[in-house]
Amino acid sequence: MTGAGKPEVTVVLDPDWAAGGLVEDVRRGLSRHPRTLPPKWLYDDRGAALFEEITRLPDYYPFEAERSILVSHAADIAQASGATTLVELGSGTSEKTRLLLDAFTADGQLTRFAPVDVAEQTLREAAHQISQRYPGLEVAAVVGDFTLHLAHLPRGGRRMVAFLGGTIGNLYLEERRAFLGALADLLEPGDSVLLGTDLVKSVDRLLAAYDDDEGLTAAFIGNALLVLNRELGADFDPEAFSYIPFWDAHMERMDMRLRSEVPQRVTLPGADLVLDLAVGEEIRVEISTKFRVSRIAGELEQAGLEVTRVWTDRAGDFALTLATKP
Ligand code: SAH
Ligand code: AVI
Repeated sequence: MTGAGKPEVTVVLDPDWAAGGLVEDVRRGLSRHPRTLPPKWLYDDRGAALFEEITRLPDYYPFEAERSILVSHAADIAQASGATTLVELGSGTSEKTRLLLDAFTADGQLTRFAPVDVAEQTLREAAHQISQRYPGLEVAAVVGDFTLHLAHLPRGGRRMVAFLGGTIGNLYLEERRAFLGALADLLEPGDSVLLGTDLVKSVDRLLAAYDDDEGLTAAFIGNALLVLNRELGADFDPEAFSYIPFWDAHMERMDMRLRSEVPQRVTLPGADLVLDLAVGEEIRVEISTKFRVSRIAGELEQAGLEVTRVWTDRAGDFALTLATKP
């Protein structure tokens, strides 16, 4: 049943992460150089809670910058998109999205909201709260992976797909290409994408945002090891690693790694893997690409979408781009 304050939740993601792709991701990523882990596995309950705490840090500017754009322009976005269904990818708590929902529901334009996230508990709670707050709105949540499960998005009506927070910057260029291409392919003419992207800025501010004194970001990135210990029976000792964030000026992205501080052997029985790490050897857990407006437009247009509007905050820290399927 949907509407009347009760969300519908469809689970597409395999609740057993090891069976649902974690093993292949870990085997592939850890045998590469530099060794890598895909960041989507960071968001178990602890990871999702740590991310939420990060968004409250004064130096973590992207959250507030994007929120300020939505405060000023949510009504323009609702009008420009003309959408009757709002899909949100990587929705998390959908906290900022409420600004969009307020604008889209003000004149009864919106009939359906479909948040999509791998973090099941966070998604269920957000969907429940939104159903309560907007009782006339159909809330159809999907527990799924936006790189794999776009076919499960609702069809019909005019849709706007919001992808906020700058999460697209956590994908590598080739992943962004595949993702935006797949997204554009499933949209109908007149549907649109609202893409939040963090913009290139001074290295000092980036380092302050991704290397906080409270150690929240270090704990968030280090959570990757705890996930592997739990899901794959691995024996990572988090104390034997340090968090190394740096700005990659060539790729224009933050690069967040864990460095082995001792020579160590780690076993991951669930992935049938033994890892010998030398002192100083690093595992890249996440990248966070920073964009220039021309590059965002280029990537969207390459995927077959037409950029119709770009909004930035006053300081020019963050951009929201609306692109339409012609
Ligand atoms: N949109 C929110 C949350 C950003 S945090 C904001 O702007 O504040 C990134 C979110 O994307 C997390 O909730 C995480 O669980 C989700 N996520 C990361 N990779 C994902 C994937 N491949 N598929 C679906 N959700 C993903
Ligand atoms: C979710 N994503 C946009 C965050 C970012 O800023 O790249 C994740 C994050 N990693 C460290 N701090 C925040």
